[in-house]
Amino acid sequence: MKPKVYVTRHLPEKAYQALKQACDVEIWDEEFPPPYEVIRENVVDKQGILCLLTDRIDVELLEAAPQLKVVSQCAVGYDNIDVQAATDRGIAVGNTPGVLTDATADFAFTLLMAAARRVGEAIDYVHAGKWETWGLTLLLGQEVYGATLGIIGFGRIGQALARRARGFDMRLIYYDKDRMPEVEAELNAVYCPLDCLLKEADYVSLHVNLTPETEGMIGKRAFHLMRKTAILVNTSRGPIVDMEALYDALRQGQIAAAALDVTDPEPLPADHRLLTLPNLIVTPHIASATVTSRTQMAMMAVRNLVAGVNDKPLPTQVNKL
Ligand code: DGY
Repeated sequence: MKPKVYVTRHLPEKAYQALKQACDVEIWDEEFPPPYEVIRENVVDKQGILCLLTDRIDVELLEAAPQLKVVSQCAVGYDNIDVQAATDRGIAVGNTPGVLTDATADFAFTLLMAAARRVGEAIDYVHAGKWETWGLTLLLGQEVYGATLGIIGFGRIGQALARRARGFDMRLIYYDKDRMPEVEAELNAVYCPLDCLLKEADYVSLHVNLTPETEGMIGKRAFHLMRKTAILVNTSRGPIVDMEALYDALRQGQIAAAALDVTDPEPLPADHRLLTLPNLIVTPHIASATVTSRTQMAMMAVRNLVAGVNDKPLPTQVNKL
């Protein structure tokens, strides 16, 4: 008998076939996430679950699954999972680091460029039939080449962004919990305390995990410190930015613009007041969305799941059992 697993969303075919070979798979094959109650009912007799960042995996859900051995998250971030509760119950938790680093860093740089050069406004301008002549002062943006980039969170993705920025001869400053002298030397990046980074950077890009310490990290106080010409980019998690404070900062010109791939709440309702601002770009959490990256993420999540249901350590396990 194959181990029973529950999968909370449609998977790329290659990953689905690999999983079917090893497990008895029940899948929620819909575009929208299963309601919490549906996941809870379906994990009752399962040894493994493959979930996405939209699925809340909390203590109550873990309690409902007495045979569960593994929670395999198809994402690098896993703030939707109560890892401590899983660890307490001897359940392994896996994620998918590495394979989305380049796609995500590419997209962070895409957002930075788009906000700097007002690409969203320019597209709207043309579509609205406003393009009537070449204008010397039309839709003026900001220089990227040679500007200062402040990277908050200097892990895999933050460093990959720094590599891209070097091609634009940007001055690199970073903030993280710990200094990284070797990486500093390799990337010619300078460590800055957070306040100093916020004051100095022309562009601030966020790459920290969502934790109680980082939630609301970029709020009223941070916007106050930032330059009036600064541009904020967020491809990490929405709640790291205080959205109300961001609205005020963008409206009052405390910063010049922002580009967010993640929001709070997520999805951001179409009638949210932030979406009335011309100096804000919002994309629907797609930084890792390339065919290659998403397929590799799904394959990695399948490998973690199959290892876990067979009582083996996961190739990329986030908790120690
Ligand atoms: C992650 O993996 O955590 C991203 O947010 C989605 O790819």
